Amino acid sequence: MRIPDPEPMPMISLASSPVSSLASSPAVPWSQAQVPVLEARSLTLDYPGPDGPARAVTDVSFRVASGERLVLLGPSGCGKSSILKALAGFLRPAGGAVEIRGKAISGPGPDRIVVFQEFDQLLPWKSVRDNVAFPLRVARKLGVKEARARAERALRRVGLGRALDAYPHTLSGGMKQRAAIARALAAEPDVLLMDEPFAALDALTRRTLQEDLLALAQEQGFTLVFVTHAIDEAVLLGTQLHLLAAHPGRTIATFDTSGLGLAERGTPPFEDVVRHVHDLLFADGARHV
Ligand SMILES: Nc1ncnc2c1ncn2[C@@H]1O[C@H](COP(=O)(O)OP(=O)(O)OP(=O)(O)O)[C@@H](O)[C@H]1O
Ligand SMILES: [Mg+2]
Repeated sequence: MRIPDPEPMPMISLASSPVSSLASSPAVPWSQAQVPVLEARSLTLDYPGPDGPARAVTDVSFRVASGERLVLLGPSGCGKSSILKALAGFLRPAGGAVEIRGKAISGPGPDRIVVFQEFDQLLPWKSVRDNVAFPLRVARKLGVKEARARAERALRRVGLGRALDAYPHTLSGGMKQRAAIARALAAEPDVLLMDEPFAALDALTRRTLQEDLLALAQEQGFTLVFVTHAIDEAVLLGTQLHLLAAHPGRTIATFDTSGLGLAERGTPPFEDVVRHVHDLLFADGARHV
């Protein structure tokens, strides 16, 4: 089956300097045989309102290849969480389509794991270890021993090796969030959907977790959709950046940020993209929040 070319959107390619030059090619060149892991095509999302459906997102399109990291960036109310909910299968499109590996997303599935922004995602009556092990037993059908061993590995990986037996109420916000991330990663998801997971963390913890996430993405090769309103975080973590404006949520621009990672942080090319995104976000029409 031939996959139609992606929607033409402004794409800032880092390969073509200067940064402000616009090109219409996608971040990853698509061959005809390539089926994206995730795809949104002219995605439109509504919520029921007192006077009929209220439009939250209109005509958003993107493709995410295996192992790519798509970041959704934009002001409050631009529909970032709504798009993530559609990818997770919690919100049906009012128009257009969301697909996983070429199939319409019709509900949640074990192939997609979601990490929310809220700290209280853990079961308060279970230890940190069992919070991570429990879903492995239920969803992945692992035995107790194997689930616990895998949980411990994941928790050590995010620096919680000393909190295995602790209960959630004894953890700091950052530790709870690390545990939620460990729970997601232990499931070894094909697709990881993260909604501002680091937003409420202090700068140091946030930086460490950003680095951890990049290392884990490298190791596990999952496909990531990451929501943030922090520009530098978006440029650092994404291989592809999708910039949205609000009311209703719509695409302003997409950027290929695959060449900008930890090693480039603070360098002129990195800062150029940050400035460019900042200018677009604060341009009239984009910042109605
Ligand atoms: N459950 C809901 N019912 C009705 N409207 C909703 C609902 N959830 C979100 N909306 C509306 O949809 C629009 C997009 O909301 P969404 O939560 O996706 O934005 P966001 O970009 O994630 O914002 P934030 O950065 O503040 O989290 C907003 O106008 C919001 O008011
Ligand atoms: Mg949100």
